[in-house]
Amino acid sequence: MAGTKAESKPGTNVDVRQRMISIAAIVSAAIFAATPVATAQTPLAHTQTNDQAWLSYSGGRERLAISPPIPPSIRALGNSVLEQSAVQELQRGLVGATGTTATPGAKASNAGETVVGTLDEVRAAFPGLQVPVHIAVHGFWLKRTLSHGQPVVIVAGSNDHGTLFGAFDLLRRIATGADLTHLDAIEAPAMSIRWVDEWDNASGTVERGYGGRSIFFEGGKVRDDLSDVTKYARLLASVGINGCNVNNVNGAAPFLEPDMIKGLARIAGAMRPWGVRLAISVDIASPQKVGGLKTFDPLDPEVKAWWAAKIDEIYQQIPDFAGVTVKADSEGQPGPASYGRSPADAANVLANALAPHGGVVLYRAFVYNNHLDYNDMKADRARAACDIFHPLDGQFAPNVVVQIKYGPIDFQAEEPASPLFAGLHKTSEAMELQITQEYLGQQRHLVYLAPLWKEKLDFDLRGENRSTPVKEIIEGKSFNQPLGGMIGVSCVGRDGWLGAPMAMANLYAFGRLAWNPNLSAEQVASEWTKQTISTKPEVVATVDNMLMQSWQTYVHYTGFLGTQTLTDITGSHYGPNIEASERNGWGQWHRDDAKGIGMDRSVATGTGFAGQYPPEVAKMYESAATTPDSLLLFFHHLPWTYKLYSGKTIIQFVYDVHYQGATEAAQLGDQWATLKGKIDPQLFEDERARLEYQAGHAIVWRDAIVQYFLKESGIPDALGRAGHYPGRLEAEDARLTGYETVDIMPWENASGGKIVTCDQSSSQKTCTTEWTYAGKPGRFNIAVQYLDLRGGAAHFSLDVNGESIASWAADATFPSNHAGDTSIRFTARGPDGRGIELKPGDVLRVEGTPDASDPAALDYIEIERNAAGAGNSDAKALY
Ligand code: GCU
Repeated sequence: MAGTKAESKPGTNVDVRQRMISIAAIVSAAIFAATPVATAQTPLAHTQTNDQAWLSYSGGRERLAISPPIPPSIRALGNSVLEQSAVQELQRGLVGATGTTATPGAKASNAGETVVGTLDEVRAAFPGLQVPVHIAVHGFWLKRTLSHGQPVVIVAGSNDHGTLFGAFDLLRRIATGADLTHLDAIEAPAMSIRWVDEWDNASGTVERGYGGRSIFFEGGKVRDDLSDVTKYARLLASVGINGCNVNNVNGAAPFLEPDMIKGLARIAGAMRPWGVRLAISVDIASPQKVGGLKTFDPLDPEVKAWWAAKIDEIYQQIPDFAGVTVKADSEGQPGPASYGRSPADAANVLANALAPHGGVVLYRAFVYNNHLDYNDMKADRARAACDIFHPLDGQFAPNVVVQIKYGPIDFQAEEPASPLFAGLHKTSEAMELQITQEYLGQQRHLVYLAPLWKEKLDFDLRGENRSTPVKEIIEGKSFNQPLGGMIGVSCVGRDGWLGAPMAMANLYAFGRLAWNPNLSAEQVASEWTKQTISTKPEVVATVDNMLMQSWQTYVHYTGFLGTQTLTDITGSHYGPNIEASERNGWGQWHRDDAKGIGMDRSVATGTGFAGQYPPEVAKMYESAATTPDSLLLFFHHLPWTYKLYSGKTIIQFVYDVHYQGATEAAQLGDQWATLKGKIDPQLFEDERARLEYQAGHAIVWRDAIVQYFLKESGIPDALGRAGHYPGRLEAEDARLTGYETVDIMPWENASGGKIVTCDQSSSQKTCTTEWTYAGKPGRFNIAVQYLDLRGGAAHFSLDVNGESIASWAADATFPSNHAGDTSIRFTARGPDGRGIELKPGDVLRVEGTPDASDPAALDYIEIERNAAGAGNSDAKALY
C-alpha cells in the first residue's frame, strides 16, 4: 500500500534536498542537432488515443490487400447489443484496413456477405451448412463458405459474446496478414475469468498508475464523461477480456456507498456494449465503515445480512455485475484476522451473497505480515501465502477464486512461481500479474512482460508428481476446478492509457495470453507490432526483437541471480536503492554483507520456503547446485566467490551483468534508430527519446549496484571497470563557482557519492562547473549527468572554450526526489552526430541555473567514445 510503504526507515533514502515527490512523468534527453546549440526536446505529450493502439486498423499503417476479400456487406442475425457491436467493429475494421466501404445491415448482395450470429442463429439461417454442435462459452467459429453460389464469411459465436470475440479475431487475422482462403477456425478461451484490475481511487488518482488520472473517477465520484471507459472496454474486448475491476484494492469502503453504486452502474453501462463486466474491490470492514454496524466479523449474522443486502442493491442496478475482489489482512487493510476468522470465512460470506446472482469472489492470497523481524533467520515473507491458504483448501465456496500473484513476493522482475498454485487442489485459482510496470521501470523503461508471464505460466510445478504447469492449474484443468483465470493489474489513465505507446504491447499480451496461454510471447509481440506499428517485415523483426530482449535487459541492470529488483522498496519502487529492502519488516530481503548475499530458503538450513513446492521442484530449489542461476540468491545465501555454472564468481557476475545490461539498454535505442523513416514519425521520436532516457538510467542503475557491491565485497572487477570511469569528470572535482558539494544518501546513487547543487538563495543567479580537458585529442560525445529535481525547471548549458554546445531544461517529473530516481543524462553528440572536437587544454563548462526549488544539481560529465568508436578519452587518467 502506497501510504504504508512510504514509512521509509530513517537514514535511508535521504534525498538531496530533503523533499519528497509523488508525481510521475516522462523525460527526454536530447541529441545534438546540426545547429550549433542543441536544446533538449520537450518531453513528448501523451497523445495516444484509442485508435493509436492496436485497433488503428489503418492509422499510420499500410492499407492491406485481403485475398480473398471479406464480403463488405455485413449483417447480424440477432438483435443483441454485442452482435451489433461486432458488426460495427467489422465495418470499422474493414474500412480501416482495406479502404473498402462496408455496408452493415444490408441484405445479401452479389458480392456475398459477412454474417454475424450465434451458432443457433447461423444454423437457422443456413440450414444446409454443417455448423459445429458445441463451442465453449465465449468461443466462436470463423468460416468462409459459399451460399447459393455467393461467398459468405460467417462469424458464429457460442453465444452473442462469442460473436464479438470472433469479429475481433477475424480483424486480427486481416491486420496481421493471415491467409483467409480456407478460413475454418474454432477458438474458445482457456479460462473463464479474464479481468483487468484498476487501482483507481475515488479522488481520481491511480495507485501505481503511470498513465495519468483515472478514466473512471474524479473528486470522490464517478466522472461525468465516461467516453474513455467505453473506448477502454472496446480495447479490452478486442483481446478477449471479459471483466474490469475499477477500484483500488486499498481503501475500498467508499465504493459501497449508495451514491457511488449509482455511479458504478453508469460505468457498467459504458462497458456493456463491449461485454466487459464490472467488478469492484471491497473492504472487508465495510459493514462497519459503510453500514454503521458495531462489527465486521464475517460470521456475525448481522454482518452476513448486511453483505447480502448490499450485494442485492448492487445487482438491482447492475444486473451483470461480475463480482468482488478482496485484499484483507494485508499491508494495513482490515480483515477477518481481527476476529480470529480465516480468509475462507470472509470469502464465503461474500460468496454466499453473490451466488444467487452468479457473481464471484476473487480473494487475494497477498496476505502477509509486514512487520517481520529481520534478525530472525527463519522469518520469510515468501512463505506467507502457503502458510495461510494451504490449510484452507476445501473450505472455500465454489464461487470463490483465490487470486495468487505470480511470485511469492510482489511482482518482481525475477522471482519463482508461487508454490501456492500447486497447494490448492480443491479451490479455484487465478494468477495475478501487473501490466502496469510498478517494479519494472514504470513505463519509462521499455519492458515487454509477456516473456516473464510465459515463464510463470509454463512453469511445471509437478503437483502430485505429474505435469501441472501453472497455466493448466489456473485454467482449472489440473485439479478439476470450476473456475480459473488471469487478472492483470492495468492501472490505465487518461494520458495515453499506460502513458507510453510501447507499453500497450503488455495490455495486448495480457489479453491474448489469458485467452490462450499457449501462445508464445514472440507470436503475441509480432501480432501487436503488425497491428500497431507496421506490417513491413523489417520493422516487425526489429520491434519484436527489441520487445523480446527488453525484460532480460531490465533484469540485467536492476538486480541479479534472484535478489529481486534492487529498488527503493519503501518508496518509489523506481530507481536503485539497494539497502532499502534490508533491515525492515517488509521482508523483501537479500541479506548481503561483506562475505556474501542471498536468502537461505532451503529446508535444511533456511526458512523452509523451498519445501512448500511439490517434491520434485522442492528438491531442485533445496540445493544451490540444482537451482537455476536466475533464482540462485532467492533460495540460497552464498559467498561472493561462489562459482556459477559458467565458472564465474557471483561478484564477477554482478559486474559483468550490469555492464551487459547497460550496453543492451543502449542497443535498444540503436535498434530503434534503424526504423527512422519507416514508421510514424511521431511514434519514432517519442520512443527514441524514451529509449535515450532509459539508456542513461540503466547507467545509473549499473553504477549504483556495481559500486555498492564493490565496496561491500572488497573484491575488484577482473575487467577493471567497477569503480574506474576513465572518461568521467566529477562535478565535485571541478572548479566550482556558486555550486556546493553535497553528499548523497544512499551514496551509491551518485558517482563518487557526491553531487553539486546551486543554492539560488545566494547572490549567484547561475553556478558553474569547469574542467580543463587533459585527455586524448579527438571527437567525442559529451554526456552530462544531472539530477532533475522537483519544484522547478532548472536550466543547463554546456560550452567548450566559451563556445556554446548545448542548453536544455530540467523539466521532467520523477516519482521521488532521490538521486537514483532523478539522475538523467543529456548527451551532446556534435554536428550530425560526429562528436565534439576536444584537445588537451580545452575548457569544458557546465552552467546551471536553478529554478524555484530545483537547484540545477549536477553529478558528472563523461567524455564518451567518439563517433568512430575509438573508445573513451581517458579524460580522468590524464586530467
Ligand atoms: C504492491 C504495491 C501496492 C499494492 C500491493 C497489492 O505492494 O506496491 O501499491 O497495494 O502490491 O498488490 O495489494
